[in-house]
Amino acid sequence: MPINFNSQNNVIFIETKNTVYAMKLLHDKFLVHLYYGEKGKFDINLHNSWMDFSPDYNTWRNLVPENLMTEYVGFDSGDWRASSLRVKNKYGQSNVFLDYVGYRIFDGRLPLGDLPSADADENTQTLEISLIDNLTNLSVKLYYTVFPDSDVISRYAVYENNGESALTIEKSMSLTVDLDNCDFDMISFYGNWDNERNFERYHIRHGLQSVYSRRGMSSHTLNPFFALVSPDCDENKGHAYGFNFVYSGNFLSEVEVDHLNHTRVQIGLGDEKFSWLLEKGESFITPEAVMTYTENGYGQMSRNFHKFIRKHILPPEPFNCRPVVINPWEAVWFDINEKMMLEFAENAKKTGMDMLVMDDGWFGERHNDRAGLGDWFANKRKFPDGLKTFVDRVKAHGIKFGIWVEPEMVNPDSDLYRKHPDWCIHCVDRPRLFSRHQLVLDMGNEDVINYLKETFLKTFDGVALDYFKWDCNRPLSQTGSAVLPAERQGEAAHRHILGVYKLQKWFKETYPNCFLENCAGGGGRYDLGMMKFSSMIWTSDNTIPQKRVKIQYGSLMGYPAATMSCHVSNRGGICEDAKQLKFHGDVALAGAIGYEMHLPKASDEMKKSITNQINAYRKYEKLILTGEYYPVINPFLNNYSAYYYMNEDKSEILLSFIQFAPDSGKKVLVPVIYADENAVYIDENGKEYAGKELINGMEFICDDTDNNSDVLYFKKK
Ligand code: DGJ
Repeated sequence: MPINFNSQNNVIFIETKNTVYAMKLLHDKFLVHLYYGEKGKFDINLHNSWMDFSPDYNTWRNLVPENLMTEYVGFDSGDWRASSLRVKNKYGQSNVFLDYVGYRIFDGRLPLGDLPSADADENTQTLEISLIDNLTNLSVKLYYTVFPDSDVISRYAVYENNGESALTIEKSMSLTVDLDNCDFDMISFYGNWDNERNFERYHIRHGLQSVYSRRGMSSHTLNPFFALVSPDCDENKGHAYGFNFVYSGNFLSEVEVDHLNHTRVQIGLGDEKFSWLLEKGESFITPEAVMTYTENGYGQMSRNFHKFIRKHILPPEPFNCRPVVINPWEAVWFDINEKMMLEFAENAKKTGMDMLVMDDGWFGERHNDRAGLGDWFANKRKFPDGLKTFVDRVKAHGIKFGIWVEPEMVNPDSDLYRKHPDWCIHCVDRPRLFSRHQLVLDMGNEDVINYLKETFLKTFDGVALDYFKWDCNRPLSQTGSAVLPAERQGEAAHRHILGVYKLQKWFKETYPNCFLENCAGGGGRYDLGMMKFSSMIWTSDNTIPQKRVKIQYGSLMGYPAATMSCHVSNRGGICEDAKQLKFHGDVALAGAIGYEMHLPKASDEMKKSITNQINAYRKYEKLILTGEYYPVINPFLNNYSAYYYMNEDKSEILLSFIQFAPDSGKKVLVPVIYADENAVYIDENGKEYAGKELINGMEFICDDTDNNSDVLYFKKK
């Protein structure tokens, strides 16, 4: 069994295939953390030391809260490090003391209300630890769910007010883990629009470092995924802890090194744009956070998360294989009309693509980004015979059809806003700040959700849709809600995200055969919350391959290739040049390939090359989308990158070398160190390679261009 309570020493163990997590119960009252890491190197010693000037637990003078490693800590309870929970009581005081009450272990897991969470399988077990704050009678239940095969443990908490007076949650964290070491580098991913998930690595220092979002969305700026690794850690060796949050809104992740060189790691909703009124009898469920550990480098950390996400997070695939799409957005922007769309459809079919995705501009008076959001009715001038007839005409070409929506948003210049100006997120008597000329609808307002459901049902009635691209093009500011009383305004951002999840769930249930691709101005919500509803996310608006290679490297560190939508476009180079087109395609072959260009205007030569590219992708698709990812060369440290995908039995390998800046004459060795050393592999030209040769490395030679690439496929003989 993965979870065990040892009553002899009061230690609770959580085991995954390769890791162990342990906590201990002291005096039937205090729950302390013992260890998280490699199996077999388990350290059962309690890390504690008495110290003057620190509060102790009176009767147990040797127990000093701020020196102990812990599982979950109340605010201002003698532990001055970052707290897991801060709750204001009827005296206006916010301290919380958490005493142990009991535990239970059960198979599977409990649902998390409207929140997305990882699916259980036959090996999943859950530990529930009950704690109490005796003064207020606040019950805090900690949940540890174990996914043994992927070496992942998840955490969340449920608070229940069993007292007589209302409480206000002022800070909430889902995961707290204290590590008995502080010699770590932190790896996190920063960016902005068009430049997401840049890899950044730095040694942690005493005090607090954090990644977070206050934008109401997980955002382009700091992704919720981060890692703590030993200084010697690389792709293949060294200690690596990975952390992530199954949530798409504001978050706070704290990494704090204390006076005894422990490192406290926390992930949760935080305290900056969050508070929650908990009336007597009410309960609150925190979102889920996940963690993994390996001693085999950050490549293995990524593979643990990839396996976990593919198996426990991503929804079932509606099609046998991912459709290769043509999306005309970068070619025509808002300039949509039926005739032109049908030309795209015809050309897509001829070229071997599977689907036309009609992007922004098909509805309301949406001719640019200044108007129309909220008015989800097909524009009659653009589609004179209606949406249904248009889609039937697309389908007559023998391809699938997808459509763009941005349900959470409204333009002030729209019928919806003119009718319901208070349906948007805003603060009383404050200016409403526009971003891309739009405001955010308050998805915590049931009327908004109902309007959207009714409108989409009407507009899409009888329309043969296969795909939604769900966009979200601005973050939240002035985060107030017209439907919440003053004492609940701190709930607006979280309630908004819960509403977004409700509507995405409704879309999935109402259009069960449709594929849902999430997008947020490119990759602004590349997170596990969104991935629960959509197995693929638009990675970035930046389709310039020289930039994309870095964005994709950063994305792949936390998320599997199957989630990464990679389009070949005309941006950053003329694809009419065969070498450029090959380079774009080779870079896109890291994930699910698609196209974003003016296909009807492309030359026959180019269309032929695209067809060849799609045929090659089809051959490798399974390996890319379901195989294991092995990073070899980091593009943030070099002018080139290298990685490979390999299936579980090591019988197929797809190796990519991408040089994106001039490095003339440089020879680069790319070792395929996980290849089968006893096997003989054969490439697509029939050339044979001993497994050992691949392990020693394939040599690539850089040139003086910024678009030199090679993708090599090897199969076991
Ligand atoms: C931002 C997306 O990332 C683009 O792909 C496109 O859909 C535009 N929005 C449309 O407004």
